[in-house]
Amino acid sequence: FSLPESHNEAILSYAPGSKERARLKAELDRQFNQELDIPLIIGGKEIRTGKLQKAVCPHDHQHVLARYHEAGEAEVRMAIDAAMAAKKDWEATPWEDRAAIFHKMASLISSKYRYILNAATMLNQSKSAYQAEIDSTCETADFFRFNAKFMEDIYKHQPISDPHVWNRVHYRALEGFVLAVTPFNFTAIGANLATAPAIMGNTVVWKPASTSILSNYYLMQLFKEAGLPDGVINFIPGRGSMIGKIALEDPNFAGLHFTGSTGVFNSMWKTIGDNLSRYKSYPRLVGETGGKDYIFMHASADAEETAAAIVRAGFEYQGQKCSACSRVYIPASRWAEMKTLLLGLLAEIKMGDVRDFRNFFNAVIDEAAFDSTMKYIELAKNAKDAEILAGGKGDKSKGYFIEPTIILTTNPKFVTMEEEIFAPVVTLYVYDDAKLEETLKVLDQTSPYALTGAIFARDRYVINQLTEALANTAGNFYINDKCTGAVVGHQPFGGARASGTNDKAGSLLNLIRWTSPRTIKESF
Ligand code: ALA
Repeated sequence: FSLPESHNEAILSYAPGSKERARLKAELDRQFNQELDIPLIIGGKEIRTGKLQKAVCPHDHQHVLARYHEAGEAEVRMAIDAAMAAKKDWEATPWEDRAAIFHKMASLISSKYRYILNAATMLNQSKSAYQAEIDSTCETADFFRFNAKFMEDIYKHQPISDPHVWNRVHYRALEGFVLAVTPFNFTAIGANLATAPAIMGNTVVWKPASTSILSNYYLMQLFKEAGLPDGVINFIPGRGSMIGKIALEDPNFAGLHFTGSTGVFNSMWKTIGDNLSRYKSYPRLVGETGGKDYIFMHASADAEETAAAIVRAGFEYQGQKCSACSRVYIPASRWAEMKTLLLGLLAEIKMGDVRDFRNFFNAVIDEAAFDSTMKYIELAKNAKDAEILAGGKGDKSKGYFIEPTIILTTNPKFVTMEEEIFAPVVTLYVYDDAKLEETLKVLDQTSPYALTGAIFARDRYVINQLTEALANTAGNFYINDKCTGAVVGHQPFGGARASGTNDKAGSLLNLIRWTSPRTIKESF
């Protein structure tokens, strides 16, 4: 027996005049003009609580795409019960059959759901067509296919036996349910957080972000169509604090798969600590949290390459990738050239509605994100040691639009060099070429995070020096490439320090967390 080969889903370009563009536009029109009623899905059943919230377009916030029902306490308990009820059969399902469902999920994306998921991600999460394609289509399908392969790799990893002793490891699922708490910024992260525990035989209670409900709901339809049994993943939009409290106090709680803020993860971890005596086992805690990702340019670097990387990593998806570049270090000897290049590239960026495919740049996710970002920009405007080099204006009258903004600071520890903003704001510090080592030390000590980072240099000796000096600053470290865009199967993704538990999404290191292995020794 062998599984279909795991390959990466090819990226479509949606070129003008292509049939793919016409099909995506038609799907955008369909979703823009409907007002979907989104239920909870518990044990395969649609539940309507009547506690309705709106899902809107961030680029046009009065436009309602859907109304979704929110879970109350009773529905959270119902979802836990449904997960526990589905567990026995799902766990006993041969792993080859589970893998087949995951391969079907991936092929359904290629053939049909790519348009549905891309349109939903564009409209509700404000991604451009390209950003939606690489996320809700390619990365999502990649997670499904590669996780099937990683599961096989784990199960085949077996200890030594001899003629009279058969040793084996049974990679059981966890004893209980897994809670998946997922972010708005990647449809693929939602998909992976809910399904990675499931492929290993676990059942899941899924609390999606309130600002990505549309794509996340379509994922539930995809799972069903691919044959994922009812109750394996239970979809409960609702208030995070209430859902967390009930799930984390439940004796069957066995694991948390989380992406979101460091603060929320820390407080969930504390609640779990306070409830340890209730659980059967120590729960698995897997979290990806904040970031303050950087690009460090050395004097030997190629300027055009570095400038393009700063603009792409800083401003694609409005800087709302967890991997997005938000602080930059440039040597004084290259600053004049870099300034011209950066300002030239920024001047070319078009901002607006996602349905106009010429827009590279769209809206930030919601009013809270808009307001908190504008506060940071105001702070920089009023600071003695910082200035706005580009952008700096925002307008939330129709959509939550903030110009791609570069703050220039003379203080390497300026607040926007340190704190995560999660928005299209890059802070730039020009360092003295003679103070390379000192600057590297400051970079290492400036923020508590260590998710992604990139260095640009052509000198081999310097590349080694920087790689060594910045060893603890990033779980994903790039040399002469931007710090975003990890590909499943190629660059396992995750950070250390305050950026998370570093259990590398898109690798068997993540999947192994969703098993509780039993070693069996049988003597003959
Ligand atoms: N995996 C995403 C990236 O690398 C977050 O950009």
